[in-house]
Amino acid sequence: MTQSPDHAPGDGPAAGRPASGIAGGSAAAQPGAIAAAQAGEPAATPAGGPADAEGSGRALPGQEGVPVPRRVRVHHLRQAKERGEPLTMLTAYDALTARIFDEAGIDMLLVGDSLGDNMLAHPTTIPVTVDEMIPAVRAVSRVARRAMVVADLPFGSYEASPQQCLATAVRMLKEGGAHAVKFEGGAHLAEHVRLLTRSGIPVFGHLGFTPQSENLLGGKRVQGRGQEAASHLVADAHALADAGAVAVVLEMVPAPVAERVTEVLRVPTIGIGAGAGCDGQVLVWTDMAGMTSWSPRFAQRFGEIGEALYGATRTYARAVRERTFPAPEHTYEK
Ligand code: KIV
Repeated sequence: MTQSPDHAPGDGPAAGRPASGIAGGSAAAQPGAIAAAQAGEPAATPAGGPADAEGSGRALPGQEGVPVPRRVRVHHLRQAKERGEPLTMLTAYDALTARIFDEAGIDMLLVGDSLGDNMLAHPTTIPVTVDEMIPAVRAVSRVARRAMVVADLPFGSYEASPQQCLATAVRMLKEGGAHAVKFEGGAHLAEHVRLLTRSGIPVFGHLGFTPQSENLLGGKRVQGRGQEAASHLVADAHALADAGAVAVVLEMVPAPVAERVTEVLRVPTIGIGAGAGCDGQVLVWTDMAGMTSWSPRFAQRFGEIGEALYGATRTYARAVRERTFPAPEHTYEK
């Protein structure tokens, strides 16, 4: 992205993106079922933004005339499932990438506790704290104009009781600006889901391989293999949905089991390593974009951004060392 030194990062439209600043800014340009479902609905505005009046459709200062996209909401997820149109979700941990994913039309941005291993250099998600999550959630919600922002509840912040879970979820919405929360676990957390739902907080369940329990599960292993484990997983999914969960993430589950869950649930399933039969897919963005040398078998690398960034960095360092940067055009003579 080329920027004039007088402009703050993110001020203008990025290279390769529409000058409107919002890809899919009109309902007609938005992807699939959600766009259809949103046709004729009032527009949404950025969380915490000056035009936060729901449905006003008012543009941000300086962006008058730029179409304001309609926020993806829980009823759109249900409608997408009914219409058989796949939902898209990516993780996001900061404003820079969240803005790109939002403009590219991703339906849901998950501020995952994978923040821990992907951004904070923790070995797993287990050490991540609520206080580490909140600034990331806030950054993503500030820039996501269309996507639903889902905040993960980190390990130790919800399991003890429905009340503990509610208190953490409230922080994610009030301080972080999230629209929904996600936490890991099955039927034993149905009461947690029920209380949050009664309190007005949409909940995403997370079944299959649940990274916060990797010590108990014996590492990163496919879950739901075999008749008994599969039936257990289906029962857990039912329990979450019956308690009010608006969607269920299925991680590292055999495809036939994920298909069975998808068939029996009224709410969408979002798969990661769970095959093509889910109602939607989620990936950790760094896996999707090829930011690391290794990525899991279930994640396709849709770009090689890590390599591109490495190349740009090497070129920059060489230019500085060779004194070809800064050039006259980057220099103030007075
Ligand atoms: O934290 C995360 O990134 C997640 C996804 C793996 C679904 O929970």
